[in-house]
Amino acid sequence: MHPLSPTIWLLLLLVLAACPHSTVSQISSNFTPPALPLVVKGPYLNAWLLRSVPDLKNWPTFWNAKTAVASFTAVIVDNTSYGLQGTFFGTPASMKAASELSSKYTPTSTSFTMQAGPMLVNATFLSPVTPHDLSQQSLPLSYYSLTFSATDGASHAVQIYSDFTSEWIASGDLNVVTNGSTIADQQLLCLEAQLVQPIPFSELDDFAQDSTGVYATSMSNTKGIQWQIGNFSDVRGLGINGTGLSNTIDPTFAAHAQFFPPGVLGMLADLGEVETTTSTPFVIAFGAFRNPSVQVTDLADEEKLRIPFYMANSSTNSIHDIASLRFYARVALHLLIFLIQTLSFLQNYTKAQAAAEEFDNKLINDTIAASESQQYADLVSLVVRGAMSSIEITLPQGNQGQQDLSDVDVFMKDMGGMQPGVGGSNGNVNPVDVLYATSPMYLYLNADILGYLLKPLLQAQQDSAYSGTLGFAAQNLGSQFPKAQLQVDNHKLGIEQSSNMLIMSLAHAQTSRDGTLISTYYTLLKQWAEYLVDNALTPNNQSSPLADGVMYSNQTNLALKGIIGIAAMGRISSLTNNDADSSRYEGISKDYISQWQTLSVSSDNTHLLLSYGQQSCAGQVYNLYADKLLQLNLVPDQIYDMQTAFHKGQLSELPVLITVYTSDWTMFTAAVMTDNLVRNGMISQIHQYTGNMFNSSTNAPFSTVYDPTTGNNSFGINRCVA
Ligand SMILES: *[C@@H]1O[C@H](CO)[C@@H](O)[C@H](O)[C@H]1NC(C)=O
Ligand SMILES: *[C@@H]1O[C@H](CO)[C@@H](O)[C@H](O)[C@H]1NC(C)=O
Ligand SMILES: *[C@@H]1O[C@H](CO)[C@@H](O)[C@H](O)[C@H]1NC(C)=O
Ligand SMILES: *[C@@H]1O[C@H](CO)[C@@H](O)[C@H](O)[C@H]1NC(C)=O
Ligand SMILES: *[C@@H]1O[C@H](CO)[C@@H](O)[C@H](O)[C@H]1NC(C)=O
Ligand SMILES: *[C@@H]1O[C@H](CO)[C@@H](O)[C@H](O)[C@H]1NC(C)=O
Ligand SMILES: *[C@@H]1O[C@H](CO)[C@@H](O)[C@H](O)[C@H]1NC(C)=O
Ligand SMILES: *[C@@H]1O[C@H](CO)[C@@H](O)[C@H](O)[C@H]1NC(C)=O
Ligand SMILES: *[C@@H]1O[C@H](CO)[C@@H](O)[C@H](O)[C@H]1NC(C)=O
Ligand SMILES: *[C@@H]1O[C@H](CO)[C@@H](O)[C@H](O)[C@H]1NC(C)=O
Ligand SMILES: *[C@@H]1O[C@H](CO)[C@@H](O)[C@H](O)[C@H]1NC(C)=O
Ligand SMILES: *[C@@H]1O[C@H](CO)[C@@H](O)[C@H](O)[C@H]1NC(C)=O
Repeated sequence: MHPLSPTIWLLLLLVLAACPHSTVSQISSNFTPPALPLVVKGPYLNAWLLRSVPDLKNWPTFWNAKTAVASFTAVIVDNTSYGLQGTFFGTPASMKAASELSSKYTPTSTSFTMQAGPMLVNATFLSPVTPHDLSQQSLPLSYYSLTFSATDGASHAVQIYSDFTSEWIASGDLNVVTNGSTIADQQLLCLEAQLVQPIPFSELDDFAQDSTGVYATSMSNTKGIQWQIGNFSDVRGLGINGTGLSNTIDPTFAAHAQFFPPGVLGMLADLGEVETTTSTPFVIAFGAFRNPSVQVTDLADEEKLRIPFYMANSSTNSIHDIASLRFYARVALHLLIFLIQTLSFLQNYTKAQAAAEEFDNKLINDTIAASESQQYADLVSLVVRGAMSSIEITLPQGNQGQQDLSDVDVFMKDMGGMQPGVGGSNGNVNPVDVLYATSPMYLYLNADILGYLLKPLLQAQQDSAYSGTLGFAAQNLGSQFPKAQLQVDNHKLGIEQSSNMLIMSLAHAQTSRDGTLISTYYTLLKQWAEYLVDNALTPNNQSSPLADGVMYSNQTNLALKGIIGIAAMGRISSLTNNDADSSRYEGISKDYISQWQTLSVSSDNTHLLLSYGQQSCAGQVYNLYADKLLQLNLVPDQIYDMQTAFHKGQLSELPVLITVYTSDWTMFTAAVMTDNLVRNGMISQIHQYTGNMFNSSTNAPFSTVYDPTTGNNSFGINRCVA
């Protein structure tokens, strides 16, 4: 099975002409993706509902679609218990099943309505997306809320039993021992799972080996709450059969927490009599905390640690603010900070929900206004949480309360296996081609984030130990997320990555109107531009990323990207007042593009070839997108019109538009079509393929690389279908 990607995706708003139109802010109700995002807020807090069992009662599964991260919820109505969530296994015999009536998702939330006896339950999973509030965005916390309304007009006694397992932090690997603990006071119940022997900055099966898992609720809005940590059958049984929980930890919990069936950390909340509608939702927070979050090693082997951005607001002052400091005094300082963040997160639910709704409406309106395509809104809405959850927003570790807020670095984990063969797949740190595919999303949401992602790449490569050895840009900062370490060897995609870096650096400067990066790293960017001057027009034995793996020569699309990279350097030079450089790069890019046109257009003048002179092969020349994004106007209009006409002729074919089937390439290509019907036809195909992923043996989060016929999330390489 090929690794999957909730990470990679893009918004084309910057390119699609805005077209005011009457719009409705919602996702189309007849589109059901193969996996719905549930708790998707960080690389290590990333659970999806695979629709292979199309019901909330299925287990949540980690983003890699391999590992269940079990949690369980039952609602007890007038002493009868109904299983709502995660009841796939370990369902006590006396429990009835609630039935799922509907589900829907928005960019920030996924919700379900379930019928549990006389009660209609709305279960909502909300992972806030706050691109301009880095403190909130960096918090590895996500909401799970339940509201109730009676369908028979009567009032009913309602209790909620809910638990999670240490699979959320340790993948169920039997060699990883986890323990459980609780903090319970007047304000907060927090159930915690920890690795007994955490290993900093180390992963096992994509799980961090240094997370603290939390499952927490605020004490307000309940008439009482109990908890218990232990054997799942004991705890669940007591929780739903009216006996109640014992507020104890089974001393043997650590020994069996990870065995199947795993131990559970459970809570039982009494909501009292619920009239027709609950006034306030019952809210649980899922969390997976790590601090420090990233280890950076430079080329002189010096290690520096980085902490999550929200720690900037966790100074000793705010610790003193906490009402029940005396109670918390026995808690270790790092846990105390997690608890304070968790409590304030829970208390802020109403505001967070209102902000999320506003965000959702704006995003859906913008996507529909830009594309006039409901399907485009469906797809973009599906990937926002994935893109925002693949990053760690960090600050340098300083003394408590003395973080340098000006030094933000963002680190992305490749959760899409875009670079097979380069030091593995899923652990790549700031993988440049994944950044490139995701960059339109960041440019739309907050361009600063793209700058924070580029900065550590630029900073590391500026070191003469790298730039004095390799004249082109690196593919990533190593393959051992969350350890960032530039390697000086192993980078083979010189044209591709140098161009990506130049294009993204300029896009960042143009969109954010902040020229700091392009000024600070001017010399390095210029070195890469010179590499492109030497190599881009007739790329010799160079590959594009991903499926290619194969090195070959004279790829039309790769040459185009290199030439756009040179033109981007022209603009960078002009923005930084390096006028002589600016004319040089502008001149070269114009000369190259006219040569490129001669070499790459088919002999019958109907389309661009896949590589120079190879008349039988066509492809998606998706790098045209960068010409539009950067407003370079390098490529003549007639090329866009020609490609549009060519792809129009293919639209009725299934599968269409082939080099390798990747959703980002197809979207980039769609974005530059000069006929909106062709553009939206291509969007429609991705929409359809995404739906077809149901047919695949591996239901999974929407992946980058897929077989468009079966929806299978694996490569479908076919370079020569014209
Ligand atoms: C999907 O891909 C997997 C792994 O590549 C393969 O084993 C499986 O047969 C494929 N399924 C379909 C329906 O093509
Ligand atoms: C639920 O059980 C409690 C305790 O056993 C009992 O007092 C109550 O009457 C029961 N409620 C209903 C609606 O059966
Ligand atoms: C659940 O409640 C939320 C908040 O009121 C609402 O936006 C959503 O549409 C509801 N979900 C379903 C499936 O009805
Ligand atoms: C810390 O919180 C305060 C108040 O909420 C806010 O004004 C400030 O911007 C926050 N600082 C950071 C670094 O997020
Ligand atoms: C759980 O393990 C961590 C790490 O070894 C330790 O600090 C903590 O005290 C343990 N908690 C309990 C309740 O055993
Ligand atoms: C859990 O409890 C049940 C019933 O008490 C017992 O049969 C089972 O062995 C226990 N499981 C573990 C892993 O301790
Ligand atoms: C409730 O469940 C527990 C654990 O399975 C069991 O020991 C107890 O006998 C049950 N009580 C009732 C009243 O069914
Ligand atoms: C509460 O949420 C709002 C909306 O996202 C945010 O602006 C605010 O900073 C949050 N406040 C706290 C204390 O977390
Ligand atoms: C989105 O569009 C709808 C319908 O035109 C409008 O009612 C709503 O106010 C818009 N929302 C935003 C956030 O622009
Ligand atoms: C192309 O590059 C690959 C990998 O760097 C190398 O193994 C191969 O020999 C090269 N082929 C040619 C024709 O230069
Ligand atoms: C690439 O194209 C150029 C220009 O047509 C040609 O001179 C060169 O031989 C080609 N390279 C390869 C390896 O085919
Ligand atoms: C599976 O694929 C076929 C065509 O390839 C399509 O007709 C069918 O609707 C798909 N099934 C689902 C559940 O999407």
